[in-house]
Amino acid sequence: MHFPEYRARRLRRTETLRSMVREVHLNVQDFILPYFVHHGKGIKTPLPSMPGHFQLSAELLVKELREPVDRGIPAVLLFGIPETKDSAASGAHAKNGVVQQAIRRIKDAYPDLVVITDVCLCEYTDHGHCGVIRNNDVDNDPTLDLLAKTALSHAYAGADIVAPSDMMDGRVAAIRESLDESGFEWLPIMAYSAKYASGFYGPFREAAQSAPQFGDRRSYQMDPANTDEALREVSMDVEEGADLIMVKPALPYLDVIWRVRNAFDLPLVAYNVSGEFAMIKAAAQNGWIDGDRCMMEALTSIRRAGADLIISYHALEAARILQDGT
Ligand code: PBG
Ligand code: ZN
Repeated sequence: MHFPEYRARRLRRTETLRSMVREVHLNVQDFILPYFVHHGKGIKTPLPSMPGHFQLSAELLVKELREPVDRGIPAVLLFGIPETKDSAASGAHAKNGVVQQAIRRIKDAYPDLVVITDVCLCEYTDHGHCGVIRNNDVDNDPTLDLLAKTALSHAYAGADIVAPSDMMDGRVAAIRESLDESGFEWLPIMAYSAKYASGFYGPFREAAQSAPQFGDRRSYQMDPANTDEALREVSMDVEEGADLIMVKPALPYLDVIWRVRNAFDLPLVAYNVSGEFAMIKAAAQNGWIDGDRCMMEALTSIRRAGADLIISYHALEAARILQDGT
């Protein structure tokens, strides 16, 4: 390409021209919207570090879902805040647990909405770790049974996809096996495959009341410096039967999204996490950035890096901008 034969600016002259040669598009169908389901009734508690988001009891969550459903957001991702926690995470797989009840209500009201459930134990353990504890660390293999039981209880309640986020070795195989044994061989698994031990989960842990009570998650979540390892994690999940793979967080790990995109052809999900959301909101509230513009730019960058689907707390606002322009 040489000037003056080639002038890059020719195709940037008007919005219509720019849109005609745009390489990547955001679509409402690509978004997954996360929600925090709180036990009980009549609860809608705002989350200060996540403006526009709440802890919601199931019946109010059903109301809240009207707009996203009408706008064509295809899927939600559910996290539960149970009434009681214990060392064995019994609330995670309770037949009438907080998430299990919410799934039934949501599927009753919106049969076509895809309900994805986060499968992990940290919201249900009194110590806040993602598995059972032995010798001050999470014990991998006994945790697998509990994760499999949890995923199965979500399946019985009517979940459309289960999404293990615990980062135990072997969990996709364990979940696949237990689903298949019970006749759910058609139920997809969305694996949080390359999930990093990240500071960007801060607002989430407050929202889900799931912060570890001692230590941190570095013995099971990935070291932020590694990308070869991300490919190994993904390939392990694919071999164990994952139907969708995920990189999390998104923005500080766009290179990982890109590498995974080029190495695997399964549907790739990126999780634009709570801290990424909170940073944009906080800067916008201070008048330091144009929040809507930065939001759309950030979401576009995640698609450009190669993600097919984006889990984002911005999803509803982005849908409004795409559809109404505001
Ligand atoms: C639970 C889980 C976490 C997130 C999703 N599932 C928190 C964690 O691993 O500590 C983070 C999501 C976010 O920050 O938006 N394992
Ligand atoms: Zn967890």
